[in-house]
Amino acid sequence: MSSRAEKAGESFRNVLRWMREHHEFVSKSIPLIASENVPSPAVREALASDLGNRYAEGYPGERLYAGCRWIDKIETLGVELAKEVYGAEYADLRPISGVMANISAYTAFAKPGDVMVALAVPHGGHISHGKHEWGGTAGLVRGLQVERYEFDYERMNIDVDGTRRRLEQLEREEGKRPRLFMLGASVFLFPHPVKEVAGLAAEYGAKVVYDAAHVAGLIAGKRFQDPLREGADAVTMSTHKTLAGPQHGMLLSWKRYEEDFKRVMFPGLHSNHHLHAVAGVTIALAEAMAFYEEYAARIIENAKSLAEFLVEEGLDVLYGELGFTESHQVLVDVSRYMGGRDAELLLESAGIIVNRNLIPKDYKLKTDHRNPSGIRLGTQEVTRLGMEREEMREIARFMGRVLVRKDDPSRVAREVAEFRKSYRKVRYAFANAVEAYEYITLSGHS
Ligand SMILES: Cc1ncc(COP(=O)(O)O)c(C=O)c1O
Repeated sequence: MSSRAEKAGESFRNVLRWMREHHEFVSKSIPLIASENVPSPAVREALASDLGNRYAEGYPGERLYAGCRWIDKIETLGVELAKEVYGAEYADLRPISGVMANISAYTAFAKPGDVMVALAVPHGGHISHGKHEWGGTAGLVRGLQVERYEFDYERMNIDVDGTRRRLEQLEREEGKRPRLFMLGASVFLFPHPVKEVAGLAAEYGAKVVYDAAHVAGLIAGKRFQDPLREGADAVTMSTHKTLAGPQHGMLLSWKRYEEDFKRVMFPGLHSNHHLHAVAGVTIALAEAMAFYEEYAARIIENAKSLAEFLVEEGLDVLYGELGFTESHQVLVDVSRYMGGRDAELLLESAGIIVNRNLIPKDYKLKTDHRNPSGIRLGTQEVTRLGMEREEMREIARFMGRVLVRKDDPSRVAREVAEFRKSYRKVRYAFANAVEAYEYITLSGHS
């Protein structure tokens, strides 16, 4: 056999083997990354379907492709459910990710050179809201001039009055006025002051966009805030974090912006919009309608419990005086023990998967983002596996052993794998023929 054929065969076998090993690894770990989740088996079925091989350019009912009869039914239903779940007049399931949903909003509401106000990354902002010099999408891709919100360190939130003064100064000194205010965050512990920011935006005739990537499932469950009712012109999101759908994006808005967004989505930003994921999002929206009031409430209770137990373990959980969190996230300053990167690596070797994160004090300290002072935790995935307060106590203990008491991580990893055996099914879903991380083979190759 030629070496090319051998390489091809070996590559094929390796990818299949590594995918199985990834499943094995995840099923033995405690998943605490705040931006991920485990979708229901029905969502996984959608992702494996033929829909992922098709095109349906345009909005449902206005297609430029044939063969869309079932696709149209699915996407039309998805749009209807999205409008109902979020109380939106316009819903668009075409953005293929949260970042693409943000670019759609930047394109519909602003033009290159316009000023956009957004949170700095150490204050919780996402890189897609960021400046050109940091490689941020708003600056680099859409050419917006990004100005940061003033930040209230004590409340981990936007300082609206400070921002007003900052913008007055910008206008006085540079003659510039904001066109767009971005809300929502990647570190998102407490609801944002949407109403106050919408009031400020109105003074400039600017638009307000709320990025619900992290909190989409909590909003669907009516346990966070309601950005459209509070004054947002559009809401963007990823569909795979607290919403627990497939990796995709979505945009919600009002009837008055419908034509602007339709033009931006197609032909502007998408041709193929990943129809298997559209079906998955539609399933997730149905699950949200049925189960998320309970799911979202449990996620937030678990986040508060985890924070409380981590403090008992000797860890510095931020914002205890504010109840730690009102979302799925918990922010821990690990700098007393080590850097965030070392904490992330050590926890991973104990089977606990978290991510290092900049925390507000890093902005002043100018800490290197590769080894920030904190770690960010999210309870949405462990909650979906059926964990409750007692399990949060157990997780905090594992983390305390690794980070504070410097127990051998490989010993903890064995106990973590044992602990995980009791949590195998996806909750808050309609149908459950396979386990949460069960590997499904279609190739027949083992
Ligand atoms: C606030 C925020 N917006 C957008 C995104 C990007 O979403 P996606 O990965 O779906 O493009 C993230 C990712 O974590 C995020 O935290």
